[in-house]
Amino acid sequence: MIDKSLVKKRFKKSLKTYDENAIVQKKMAKELISLLPKKEYNKIFEIGCATGILTKEIADKLIFSELYLNDIVEESKKYVQEIYKECNFIAGDIENINLNKKYNLIISNACLQWCSNIEDTLSKLINALDDDGILAISIFGEDNLKEIKSIFNIGNEISSISSMENFLNTQKIIAKKEDKIKIDFETPMEVLKHLKYTGTNAIKEIKLTKTKLKDFEQKYKENYTQNNKVYLTYNPIYIICTKG
Ligand SMILES: C[S@@+](CC[C@H](N)C(=O)[O-])C[C@H]1O[C@@H](n2cnc3c(N)ncnc32)[C@H](O)[C@@H]1O
Repeated sequence: MIDKSLVKKRFKKSLKTYDENAIVQKKMAKELISLLPKKEYNKIFEIGCATGILTKEIADKLIFSELYLNDIVEESKKYVQEIYKECNFIAGDIENINLNKKYNLIISNACLQWCSNIEDTLSKLINALDDDGILAISIFGEDNLKEIKSIFNIGNEISSISSMENFLNTQKIIAKKEDKIKIDFETPMEVLKHLKYTGTNAIKEIKLTKTKLKDFEQKYKENYTQNNKVYLTYNPIYIICTKG
């Protein structure tokens, strides 16, 4: 089960530092938009908009009539309103929100892996699409942050990627892509700061004593050093589909 109050707390705390540190999420937002069919969209609904990294790409690159934005963290509203003033902001957990409109595009970058019941959520999203509506999502695969998961012995607490893929494979897939992105840091402590500043440390609450921290630094350096730097792996997956 995903601890939603932890997700909310960590992302709320990271709002101010998110943009500067979300290097991978920025690449993912651009990639997601580039995989979309080039056409005019009517109503667009974005899930988990945070500070508006994907929102900015939508506003700059897509032609549309109305933009609906959602995040579980209410404070994200003031960030996205600066990017697109006329947006309709819907605060709350996407798993509990009733979608009573039909959208031409439902899109989400680096967010849906935080859902507890991914199949029900995806099915709700598919039902909220127009007949020719498109669902475009990027999520993280099994190898995401594998260095951290291995040292802290964290399993795949986030929604199973395979159940998501199984569900989406019953729809009409327009595009699908998987990437591995390694980013470098000077020290293992910089890796931890990066996770904190992007809210990505919401997987599990880990109490770090001085001894645990020392152990972490040592194991990280031993196992994940390349060219005098330590690295962290991201594993984005992009899926674009229409109703099956
Ligand atoms: C890694 S950030 C990605 C933000 C943004 N999409 C981007 O492109 O940078 C994930 C966002 O999803 C939000 N989120 C997580 N779980 C959510 C849920 N169940 N419903 C709505 N938003 C959620 C978080 O608050 C956070 O702002």
